[in-house]
Amino acid sequence: METNLLTGKKGIIFGALDESSIAWKVAVNCVNNGAKVLLTNAPIALRMGNINDLAKICNSKVIPADATCIIDIQNLFSEAEIYFGGKIDFILHSIGMSLNVRKKRSYTDLNYDYLMKGLDVSAVSFHKVLQVAYKLDVINDFGSVLALTYIAAQRTFPDYNDMAENKSYLESIARSFGYHYGKRNNVRINTISQSPTFTTAGKGVSGFDAFYDYANKISPLGNASAEDCAKYCISLFSDYSKMVTMQNLFHDGGFSNTGISNDVIELFGNKTDDKVN
Ligand SMILES: NC(=O)c1ccc[n+]([C@@H]2O[C@H](COP(=O)([O-])OP(=O)(O)OC[C@H]3O[C@@H](n4cnc5c(N)ncnc54)[C@H](O)[C@@H]3O)[C@@H](O)[C@H]2O)c1
Repeated sequence: METNLLTGKKGIIFGALDESSIAWKVAVNCVNNGAKVLLTNAPIALRMGNINDLAKICNSKVIPADATCIIDIQNLFSEAEIYFGGKIDFILHSIGMSLNVRKKRSYTDLNYDYLMKGLDVSAVSFHKVLQVAYKLDVINDFGSVLALTYIAAQRTFPDYNDMAENKSYLESIARSFGYHYGKRNNVRINTISQSPTFTTAGKGVSGFDAFYDYANKISPLGNASAEDCAKYCISLFSDYSKMVTMQNLFHDGGFSNTGISNDVIELFGNKTDDKVN
């Protein structure tokens, strides 16, 4: 969908790995809405994925940066200033990784070195990005910063493992930094809590297919796709959401507020009298 919601705006997109990445769809939608974007990912991801194809689609450039490394983030922002000829208006943090999930360590047998690495990549990196941006003053007044999260921060999903704590920490940073950046520059900071989505990170969680199907059957609107998530991001980068900050915003087809659905009751062999289903 092409509109002009972001005409004249410039932003940095972290975390596009391949076509399935949520960040990939966000980058394309930003450009289709009139924005200019700069793409970044960890140096290793540049070798694994196909972000350079995205750069061509977006008429953009890729600056490698490990989001846990302050020097990389400083370099990214100074390159961005040269590339755009000034400050930026939005940032997407679309980064997640748990070494315990990757190495198949169960929640009751966590490796704490893995835990610290996953926390740094998935959550503390958000603080690092914001702190460097704040100190260098790289975001225009009334800019918008988003990070992606999952409802396991509030409710238990056993196979989500230590990513649950990482997401809680991430969401808390949006509230705490949202205060400080809001006071100084009217910059708003929010997290979007997205439905299960088939991406490289999503599929890494064991039992992901069941996660996906269950959420799809519970949610009155069904699961939100990556493309829908991208459109929601556009609205939050736009001037139409200027007063929304420090929020965790559920983008999940109604999953978060549904106790049970008739679809799920019927899965257990019971009839319901809901004529719609
Ligand atoms: N897929 C889902 O079901 C789902 C649901 C809710 C929220 N999310 C969140 O959405 C975000 C994006 O994930 P995705 O599903 O698009 O998967 P993805 O695998 O496409 O994206 C994850 C990205 O994190 C990047 N990354 C990892 N370590 C990094 C580092 N040190 N520095 C910079 N980047 C690094 C990866 O290279 C990759 O591009 C994550 O925060 C994820 O937790 C995903």
